[in-house]
Amino acid sequence: MASDRQRCILVTGGAGFIGSHVVRHFVRKYPYYHIINFDKLTYAGNLENLTDIRNAPNYSFVHGDICDLGTLRALLREQKVNGIIHLAAESHVDRSIRDPFLFARTNVIGTLTLLQAAREYWDKQWEGKRFHHVSTDEVYGALELGDAPFNESTPYSPHSPYSASKASSDHFVRAYHDTYGLPVVLTHSSNNYGPFQSPEKLIPLCIHNICENKPLPIYGNGENIRDWLHVQDHAQAIDEVFHRGRNGESYNIGGGNEWENIDIVKLLIRLVDEQLGHPAGHSDKLITYVADRAGHDLRYATDTGKLRRELGWVPQHPFESGLRETVQWYLEHAEWVKNVTGCAYERYYAEMYNDK
Ligand code: NAD
Ligand code: TYD
Repeated sequence: MASDRQRCILVTGGAGFIGSHVVRHFVRKYPYYHIINFDKLTYAGNLENLTDIRNAPNYSFVHGDICDLGTLRALLREQKVNGIIHLAAESHVDRSIRDPFLFARTNVIGTLTLLQAAREYWDKQWEGKRFHHVSTDEVYGALELGDAPFNESTPYSPHSPYSASKASSDHFVRAYHDTYGLPVVLTHSSNNYGPFQSPEKLIPLCIHNICENKPLPIYGNGENIRDWLHVQDHAQAIDEVFHRGRNGESYNIGGGNEWENIDIVKLLIRLVDEQLGHPAGHSDKLITYVADRAGHDLRYATDTGKLRRELGWVPQHPFESGLRETVQWYLEHAEWVKNVTGCAYERYYAEMYNDK
C-alpha cells in the first residue's frame, strides 16, 4: 500500500453511525492522511456526528451519491485517492422489508459503481491501493441455538432484502478482485452499539423510549439472539484489516457477546432507570410484545479467530460498562436525539406500525 505519508482515503457513509466513528478514528490517529468523508446525507447521515473533527486540517466532506459514477471518477482523480473504506449503505432490515429496491440501488448498484470508479482510476496500478468493503455477518444467514458461530467459510444464506443486498455487493467486490485484480479486503461485523446510532435500531430505540415512557416493541417472543460489539472496537478492527489484512481476504468481526433481545431490553431498563433515579423495575411495564419481523433471523454469532490470529485484534470494551456509557451518552445528548427523531422519523414509525 501507499507509504504512510501519501494516503488519501475516501470513506463512504462517513456521516452515519459506524462511518462517523471510522472517520474520527482515522482523522485523529493518522494526522498525515487525508480523510475524505463522502456521504449522501440520507435520513441516516448526520454531520452533527462529526462536529468535534470537522475543522481538522486532514478532514474534508463531500456531499454525493455512490451511484453517481461521474462524480466518483472526478473525485478519485482530483484527490488522488489511494484507499477506499466503503460503509455507505441502507442499513436497517425493517426498512429493507418495506422498500427492497432502494436497498438494491444503494447497496448493490452503489457498491458496483464505486468498484468501477476505483478500477478505472487505479487502472491496474494496484501497488499502494486498497478497497475495503464493510459488510455484515447477516450475509451468512441465521444460526440455530447449538450451531457453531459463522466463520469466513460459512456459505452465504441471506434472508432479508438488506442481507441479500449486502451479500450481492460482497460478490461484486470479490468479482472485481478475481476478474480485474482490484486489491480488496472485506469485513463482516456483528451488531454494533455505541454513541451516534440512529434511534430506529434496538438499543438506542429502547433508551429513547424508556426516557419518553413509551412502549418498547419486542418482535416475536424476544428470544432472537445477536452478538453485540462496541462501535469503537469495530473501527479499530477496520484500521487493522485496512492496513494489514491480506489482499482478497475476508475477516469476521464480533464481540463474542451473545444476548437474547429480551435480556438486552431488561438490562437497558435497569441502566436507564438507575441513571434517571427511578426505582428498580419502574419501566418494566413498557415491554410490549409485537408482531414478529418477517423472516426474522434467530441467531447471529461470529467466530473472530482469523482476525485475532492474523492481526492480533481483540475487542477492548467490556459490554456492561460499554452499554452503561452508551446509555449515559444518549441521556446527555437529548438534543442530538431530538434532531434525528424529527417528523420524517415519527411518520416512518407511524406507517410501520400501521402496516403490521
Ligand atoms: P447508517 O445507516 O447509520 O449510515 C449509513 C450512511 O450511508 C449514512 O451516513 C447515509 O447518509 C450514507 N448513505 C446512504 N446511501 C448513500 C449513497 N447512495 N451515497 C452515499 N452515502 C450514502 O449505517 P451503519 O449502521 O453505520 O452501517 C455502516 C455500514 O456497516 C453498512 O455498510 C452496514 O451494512 C455495515 N454494518 C453495520 C452494522 C451495524 O450494527 N450497524 C453491523 C455490520 C455491518
Ligand atoms: P436491529 O437493531 O434492527 O439490528 P438487526 O436487525 O440488524 O440485527 O435489531 C436487533 C434485534 O432486535 C433484531 O433481532 C430485531 C430486534 N428488534 C426488536 O425486537 N424491536 C425493535 O423495535 C427493533 C428495532 C429490533
